[in-house]
Order: sequence, then C-alpha cells, then structure tokens
Amino acid sequence: MTARVLDGKALAAELRAEIAAEVAQLQAATGRAPGLGVVLVGDDAASRSYVTAKEKACAAAGIRSREILLPASASREAVLEAVRELNADDDTDGILVQLPLPDAAIEREVIEAVDPAKDVDGFHPVNVGRMVLGLPAFVPCTPAGILEMLRRAEVPLAGALVVVVGRSAIVGRPLSILLSQKGVDATVTVCHSRTPVLARYTLQADVIVAAAGSPNMITADMVKPGVVVVDVGVNRVPDETSARGYRLAGDVDYEPVARKAAAITPVPGGVGPMTITMLLRNTLIAARQRRAPQA
Ligand code: GUN
Repeated sequence: MTARVLDGKALAAELRAEIAAEVAQLQAATGRAPGLGVVLVGDDAASRSYVTAKEKACAAAGIRSREILLPASASREAVLEAVRELNADDDTDGILVQLPLPDAAIEREVIEAVDPAKDVDGFHPVNVGRMVLGLPAFVPCTPAGILEMLRRAEVPLAGALVVVVGRSAIVGRPLSILLSQKGVDATVTVCHSRTPVLARYTLQADVIVAAAGSPNMITADMVKPGVVVVDVGVNRVPDETSARGYRLAGDVDYEPVARKAAAITPVPGGVGPMTITMLLRNTLIAARQRRAPQA
C-alpha cells in the first residue's frame, strides 16, 4: 500500500479563499476589516518565521495585522502592557502572543491577561474550560486544523481508535478532548514521553497523531497497515547539504510509514498550513462576535 498524501497546503488554500470571501463581506457590512494583534518577544528564528507566515496569511485574506515586537530582555510588565494595549484597541479583534516566551515563567500570566473574547489561540483558561465542557469556544488552531483536515478527507473518526502521541497544552491535550467529544466519537488514547512501549498502543491505532516534537520517532514497525497518520512535528534537524544548515523533519519516519499507511500528512505542507488557516478563521469569528455581541 502507498498512502494517500493529505495535502494540507491545497486544503488550506481552499479554506483561505472561503475565509477571504467572508472577510470581504464583513468589511462591506461593517466598514472594517478584522484585525489581528501579534506580540512577539525576542528574536528566536523559528518564532519570527511563524509570525511572518501568520501575518502574510492575514494580509492575503484581507485581515489587518498589527505587530508589537519586544526585545528578549523585555520585562514581565512590558509584555503584559503590550497585551493590555491590544485588549483595549477596538481595531484589534484577535490577539496572539507567540510562544514560547524567552521567560517561560511569565507565560501563564501573559496568556491569562488576554481578553478571552480576543483569544484566537484558544489558550486562555476560559476558552480551554468552555472547550472541555463542549460549549462554544475558541479552539486552539493546530487541533482545529487537524480535525478539519480529517473531516474534509473523510477519515472515519466515529468508533475509530485514535492514538495521540504528546500531551502538550497546545496540541495533544486539547486534541484528545475534541476527538472524544459527542459528534466526533473517537476512542482516544494519549501517550507521552513516560509511556512505556509506545508501539503497544500505536500498533492498535486506526489513526495516529504524532505531536511529541521528536524527529522520526514513529517508525514503520510501530504502525498497522492501513493506518491514517497525522504528523504535527516540525523539527529542525542539522543538515550540511542544505543552504540553511537544517532541514525540517516531522515526528514520523515518513517514507517507510507512508508505504504501510492508508493516508499521511507531509512535513512541511501538512498540518502547518491548516494551523495558520484556523487562526484566520478564529480571527474572523472574533471580529463577527465583537461587532454583533448579541448574535
Ligand atoms: N508556538 C507554537 N505554536 C503556537 C501557536 O499555535 N500559537 C502561539 N501563539 N504560539 C505558538
């Protein structure tokens, strides 16, 4: 078997065209385009490139973006002040604080400073709590993108055994909750760095979501034939043959796993473009809700 490649880039392009049309409608109706405020602290190269990709995607969809760039040495108070400024700015509908922050110790406080109505990353405890309860909420972009991709690819989830590898607050944990909710109805197992004999679980899985941040950790001997594999890993692996000095590797040993799988997402061009697309969608939703709060 050779896997169907789940082309996140192509699907994202389709969805972004739909979002751009809805943005144009909202702008025509209200005289204002949706706006995203981004806080970037420090000069980490990967964070810079993610933020640039998000801002470019916003511009292409007709969403305004405003960036507050702070030095890595910025104080806790300066970071909180940037968030408060965006909370108070009427033209800012959605707020994104790029993580990780140089000072990990202030992350929780900074996330909790974001107005939940503008929390398009879905990281604020109010949105996390609402999501767990199955109430309307901003859902974190990577889990939302993965679900949308599986839905559009018509991968059956009801009754499927899904193994999520990784328990991060951004991907693994929220995705496991969404997959087990009524209406999706997957049976979910969450594995992590302390799981002994990971293959014991992955070999049973109808769908594997690899989100551990460990290059090539899911190998062909760990998956059953016909599995659907979603690779969330974006790992920079040193590569002297590349001009950049590195190449991107997922969490999945792609070629051998693709020979056994029914479907697989590539890295790059799989989950990444879908994540950014969900950010655009959440920003559009935030703008609509803020302009018609009673609706
Ligand atoms: N860092 C890695 N992923 C994300 C994300 O989805 N949102 C933000 N704000 N930071 C991240």
